[in-house]
Amino acid sequence: MNLAELKKVAEAMVAPGKGILAADESSGTIKKRFDAIGVESTEDNRRDYREFLFRSHEAMSKYISGVILYDETIWQKAKDGTPLVELIRRTGAIPGIKVDEGTKPLPCFPGEVVTIGLDKLADRLPKYYEQGARFAKWRAVIDIGPKMPSYGCVLANAHALARYAALCQAAQIVPIVEPEVLMDGEHDIDACYQVTEWVLKETFQQLYYQSVALEGIVLKPNMAVPGKRSTKKASVAEVAEKTVRLLKACVPAAVPGIAFLSGGQSDEEATAHLDAMNKLGPLPWKLTFSYGRALQAAPQKAWSGKAENVAAAQRAFAHRAMMNGLASLGQWKADLEKKAA
Ligand code: 13P
Repeated sequence: MNLAELKKVAEAMVAPGKGILAADESSGTIKKRFDAIGVESTEDNRRDYREFLFRSHEAMSKYISGVILYDETIWQKAKDGTPLVELIRRTGAIPGIKVDEGTKPLPCFPGEVVTIGLDKLADRLPKYYEQGARFAKWRAVIDIGPKMPSYGCVLANAHALARYAALCQAAQIVPIVEPEVLMDGEHDIDACYQVTEWVLKETFQQLYYQSVALEGIVLKPNMAVPGKRSTKKASVAEVAEKTVRLLKACVPAAVPGIAFLSGGQSDEEATAHLDAMNKLGPLPWKLTFSYGRALQAAPQKAWSGKAENVAAAQRAFAHRAMMNGLASLGQWKADLEKKAA
């Protein structure tokens, strides 16, 4: 393993003013997104959609440091035959790959899941490297509910994340370590804080046991936010203050950067929260975005599967990318959203 090289890639992924486009929706998830805009989820439609995102040259080259791809996409070619990976590289962004194989129920722990995909991972990683991937992603999913999460669930997921991260580094690929505590429940922000603290502490313990070099990872956590069905809302200032406090207590300064998931927050909330956190700086690590929905909801809606809408959809993507790029510097202002509207 060449740690200096891993570190360089990790630092580029969280470069000032830039963040990651999570375009790695599995076939099931992208179908859900396409259903919502009345588009059939065929291989060609998925290709056309992702192709126009990656061809949004200004947005990609100014605000996007890396793109997480799904297995199908990393092998796909644009309409003119150019590999999609090559389109990404031409913008200066780094191609990455989702390598987990989704979740399965954890026996004996009703309602809880563990992420799978470790068995053949050591064989798959060199193929992805050869295809251009310089980083990978593995997402663990932790739900909050009555008596949930269990220690069995937290430990199994943290262990798998650490095993994955070690395998990636051995293959010269930077692991994005993503333990996602879901915001689906009725819990308040403090319950989210407590569970996320537990999950992050266990994750870093397991990373230590597997000898993962923290200088060569990027952490992708959730923010401390109330559940979507919570009756207690939290202000932007509260989310920012609590998330930064939580991360300072759990994430060693050796980690170059933290790139948040959006997890079901609205586009503007995800931007405002990131911006408010960066305004609390200086911080020990870079704080940026690795958003899926909060970057793509607007372009998907604008596109709606119609070729004549591609330019408008690219503008919608460029706008969200710019807003989040500014937020990663603590330079976003709510007025900028209104002006664009
Ligand atoms: P969201 O930002 O939509 O949560 O997606 C990010 C991601 O990559 C989830 O694994």
